[in-house]
Amino acid sequence: MIAVYDSGIGGTSVLKAIRDLDSHVDIIYLADQARCPYGNRPVADIRQIALGCANWLIRQGAQPVVVACNTASAAALHQMRQHHPETPFVGMVPAVKPAVQQTQHGVIGVMATAATLKGDLYHEVTQRFAHDVQVVGQDCHGLVDLVEAGQLHGAATDAAVAAHVAPLIQAGADVLVLGCTHYPFLRESISRAAPHVTIIDPAPAVARHTLTVAAPLTQSQPRGRTIYYTTGSASHLAWQINALGLPVGETTHVAVEELI
Ligand code: DGL
Repeated sequence: MIAVYDSGIGGTSVLKAIRDLDSHVDIIYLADQARCPYGNRPVADIRQIALGCANWLIRQGAQPVVVACNTASAAALHQMRQHHPETPFVGMVPAVKPAVQQTQHGVIGVMATAATLKGDLYHEVTQRFAHDVQVVGQDCHGLVDLVEAGQLHGAATDAAVAAHVAPLIQAGADVLVLGCTHYPFLRESISRAAPHVTIIDPAPAVARHTLTVAAPLTQSQPRGRTIYYTTGSASHLAWQINALGLPVGETTHVAVEELI
């Protein structure tokens, strides 16, 4: 059983990509919606929260653990691997590498949360892959809340998205990296704000990698189940699953106190 974890509904962009490639694997999804968004919390808090979530998923017998949250990966992926050397983890890092390959102007924009942009993983990939390319990060605060509320379309969403995209376009970016797993759900609005720009959603690549990691671990009788847990409201999550056209599955509440 593959575990997929995010602060909220965003990681389902990765879950959906996994399901598109493989209808048989069992997937357990944890949305920590009681504590979402993570992006503006202190790194130490995010780390503690994310480690608790990973511990709980591992106690459910799931592996690999896909940290389908750039913010949690930035804060805690390294520590998760240290605490659980026997568990394979798949993390999210802003897709700077493919963006560098695709830019023609030599400027790429990274849309992400404040914590992701402050994190070491982002600086490592930028230093490693962006030699002659300028990388401009934009803290897109507010966008996670719009996705959680199901406000994917409309004038207010377009305005919020445009306000974050404009500085990147002004800086000359011709490639935008979706550095938060919630943002693929705003893709239409982002495309409208950046009409001639290449948009990179890393979910399909992460899904392919996840299935490669999961292949040797897969149990004998996978049944194609998708099981959702949330620290928030199970009925709101069920509504979101339906509204976003996500794989069908039962939704259950889990108390924050259990995620330690
Ligand atoms: N989906 C998370 C990410 O990829 C959102 C973080 C948040 O809760 O602010 O960064």
